[in-house]
Amino acid sequence: MTIEKMTVLDRYIAVRKRTEDICEPLETEDYVVQPVADVSPPKWHIGHTTWFFETFILKNFYNGYQEFNPDYNYVFNSYYETVGARVIRTDRGNLSRPTVLDVKRYRKYVDEAMIKLIECGCSEDVEELLELGFNHEEQHQELLYTDIKYILGNNPLFPSYKKDASKTIKNTSVGGSIIIDEGIYEIGYNGNGFCFDNELGRHKVYLPQYQISKNLITNGEFIEFIEAGEYRDFTLWHAEGLDWVKNNNIQSPMYWHLVDGKWHHYTLEGLIPVDAEGILNHISFYEASAFAAWKGMRLPTEFEWEVAADKFEWGSRWEWTESAYLPYPGFKKAPGAIGEYNGKFMVNQKVLRGASEVTSPGHSRKTYRNFFHPHLRWQYTGIRLAQ
Ligand SMILES: [Fe+2]
Repeated sequence: MTIEKMTVLDRYIAVRKRTEDICEPLETEDYVVQPVADVSPPKWHIGHTTWFFETFILKNFYNGYQEFNPDYNYVFNSYYETVGARVIRTDRGNLSRPTVLDVKRYRKYVDEAMIKLIECGCSEDVEELLELGFNHEEQHQELLYTDIKYILGNNPLFPSYKKDASKTIKNTSVGGSIIIDEGIYEIGYNGNGFCFDNELGRHKVYLPQYQISKNLITNGEFIEFIEAGEYRDFTLWHAEGLDWVKNNNIQSPMYWHLVDGKWHHYTLEGLIPVDAEGILNHISFYEASAFAAWKGMRLPTEFEWEVAADKFEWGSRWEWTESAYLPYPGFKKAPGAIGEYNGKFMVNQKVLRGASEVTSPGHSRKTYRNFFHPHLRWQYTGIRLAQ
């Protein structure tokens, strides 16, 4: 069944089930740890996505709804100041309670109420919040994959998450570039479906003529960069990037390990040799930018990416762009807590375009704007060049 043809109830059940399917291979201990601040414990994700439906829909639109546990607002609120105090992000992994079983009971309780509410018919307001809730949960599904990978990939035993969970993805085009003519182009979402508020404010931009590569950079190309000693070539790096390299002793993409002189990397199946033809993954903006400089090229801006996106294949990696994460002209925050969803993060971050191999199917689109701080690389990030 296509997403468009699903009823709201089907969609609710499918989205919620997918989260549970992602967690199914985990052991109880895997649900709880938080190895670094950016990685949330899977238990927290499954509680927080449930809290989202309870807080924004059930508490406001379900007559006589009894909150599952009033303390959970403190534990599972992520960043909504409007909704009250919350456990600080770095402490998410210190919570042995509520237990994994408690959180699963919480999910079941909220699901039963949500299904009743949807079956009774929803107002337009609720339908809008439901659509946001589905897309929110899909964002957390991607985060679950990336966080599970980080948790298992930083365990010295390199445990496998699941057999066949990861396949080497290769470029299918022969390569080369696309040339886009100078012109004025429309940027931003203008369809009839769902989009996030940060894609709105459709507007015109002027682009000088540019070239953009059909293919993403491969592991083999990045190995050449490493072997040429370019992690130490200050001429290629931003000052902040070089500090990051030195302070963290960065010598390769995240999850890469030299085993008997050969590059290996952790994948969701475990530690395997790096395939030179596989598409590069898990690099920071700093590395992407230095690599582009080494090639005598640069990263595309988010506008160049969007204008050319129908002409190349995308979807296996979040692609770093040169663009700062800023509001489009006319950007409006929704009133209340929902207005905190995107707008307040529009500082000091870079835009990534595309989707990744662990993005929920149908979740992304060519106007979708993902955003991360430039040093982060636990997401499935890659490089496309432009000039
Ligand atoms: Fe969230």
